[in-house]
Amino acid sequence: MKRAIAFEFSRVTEAAALAAFDWIGRGDKNAADNAAVKAMRQLLNQMEIRGEVVIGEGEIDKAPMLYIGEKVGQNKPDQEEVSIAVDPIDGTRMTAMGQSGALAVLAAGGKNTFLQAPDMYMEKLVVDSDAKGMIDLNLPLEQNIRRVASKKGKLLSQITVAILAKPRHDEIIKSVQALGVRVLAIPDGDVAAGVQCCLPDSDIDLVYGIGGAPEGVVTAAAVNALGGDIQARLIPRNKVKGNTPENLKAAEKEISRCAAMNVPVNTVLKIEEIVRDDNVVFAATGITTGDLLKGVQRKGSMIFTETLLIRGRSRTIRKLASYHDISHLTDD
Ligand code: FBP
Repeated sequence: MKRAIAFEFSRVTEAAALAAFDWIGRGDKNAADNAAVKAMRQLLNQMEIRGEVVIGEGEIDKAPMLYIGEKVGQNKPDQEEVSIAVDPIDGTRMTAMGQSGALAVLAAGGKNTFLQAPDMYMEKLVVDSDAKGMIDLNLPLEQNIRRVASKKGKLLSQITVAILAKPRHDEIIKSVQALGVRVLAIPDGDVAAGVQCCLPDSDIDLVYGIGGAPEGVVTAAAVNALGGDIQARLIPRNKVKGNTPENLKAAEKEISRCAAMNVPVNTVLKIEEIVRDDNVVFAATGITTGDLLKGVQRKGSMIFTETLLIRGRSRTIRKLASYHDISHLTDD
């Protein structure tokens, strides 16, 4: 993907974060998400690309904007074809509750770069480039931790694992702690943790958890661009949330969507099956301040944003600090 296009994506996540800013701490996660989605879509549609949303806000009948399959961009015949995976807010609840670490995120690549998957649960395991090739999601987490520790020449007490702090992970968190490993139990937002794990200045060695599949694909783009490793497995809702009639019905739908999209359920997917090319761009802008990025801050008419922009082709990691003067906003 051309460098100039890559830079344009940072404006898209900036716009989503700026739109979400008004909704921080107002208790309405849907309103926050809608604002971010609308802003992201508006900026994507200004871009000189023939874009298609491959990971988005859901299926066409459920999502009015940024649905899977939606065409975005100016769509002129001479423009580059781009696949786009969006997560307009990773941390809608965190945004609504004014908690730290919410991001506006997207990943972009050439046609057919990303795994196409419905919005369902996904088990994920991420490591950085030093531990690439050492993970296998078919093995217990403990064995993966031991393999990574031995590859890195670390004692288990020197290993840090970030795990989503959801009730479904209570037992696994305890068992990892019992090994003497440090656990960072993150309440929400596994994209930030996955990206952070692969950055040069991070002390996270592994990220594990069952979270969203869209988040998994977006994370995989950054992990791929940074030379790290990820394995993942799509899991039907009833296996994560229990066998209630609603969950069983939802799971049935997920399984048939997966069949239509030709993606396996309950099967380990390797990084090259999730992101097929390293010519990807990953952009994330902080909404609320977290370990990865500062959140949106406003002083008078000046609004500050911080954006992480990673280009896989060159493996360049940029942090862009921007000041937007809202009294001078233009469309060009
Ligand atoms: P949302 O912003 O879509 O709510 O995602 C936040 C998040 O924590 C993700 O980072 C994670 O992958 C997923 O939710 C976990 O799902 P759940 O909250 O259903 O356990």
